[in-house]
Amino acid sequence: MKNVVLIGFMGTGKTSTGRLLAGRLNRTFIDIDKKIELETGLTISDIFQLYGENHFRQLERDVIARVSRYTNTVIATGGGVVLKQENMIRLKNTGIIIALTASLEAILERTSRRGVRPLLDCEDRAERVARLFHDRASLYMRADYSIDTTCLSPHQVAERIIAFL
Ligand code: S3P
Repeated sequence: MKNVVLIGFMGTGKTSTGRLLAGRLNRTFIDIDKKIELETGLTISDIFQLYGENHFRQLERDVIARVSRYTNTVIATGGGVVLKQENMIRLKNTGIIIALTASLEAILERTSRRGVRPLLDCEDRAERVARLFHDRASLYMRADYSIDTTCLSPHQVAERIIAFL
């Protein structure tokens, strides 16, 4: 069976929704960031700090290349997978792409915990979120289906995806 791939900005609920969805569909759940952490023995923040963003993007690309060969899985991606065209081609070929979106306000609130998302660990966090949000908006529109999660729980989002599939 085709994979279900969740894309979207940080804080749109890809991981929590993906886990619930995989359970409901009786499929394997793969979280790309988690897989990178398990394989390297480092947290995403450590990877950014020690080796930089470019290195992280290579690791991300390599994991996506491998995971794209799987079947019958639900895949939660990191918010930046859309930055590489080759990631999107691979993911499109492996399954159906669902974009999760949310309002800027909701994203700011949901991503307020420090030490988790290295791109947002800075003084001008609100400006950084707004800029990335704006710069990436069109990239998330390449999905087959899009859901605004601003007022929905991950459980409700998972149910909407099931209704769509
Ligand atoms: C990133 C999003 C993060 C993680 C990394 C980079 C991004 O994943 O992959 O910190 O560039 O948007 P989440 O979207 O799960 O927070």
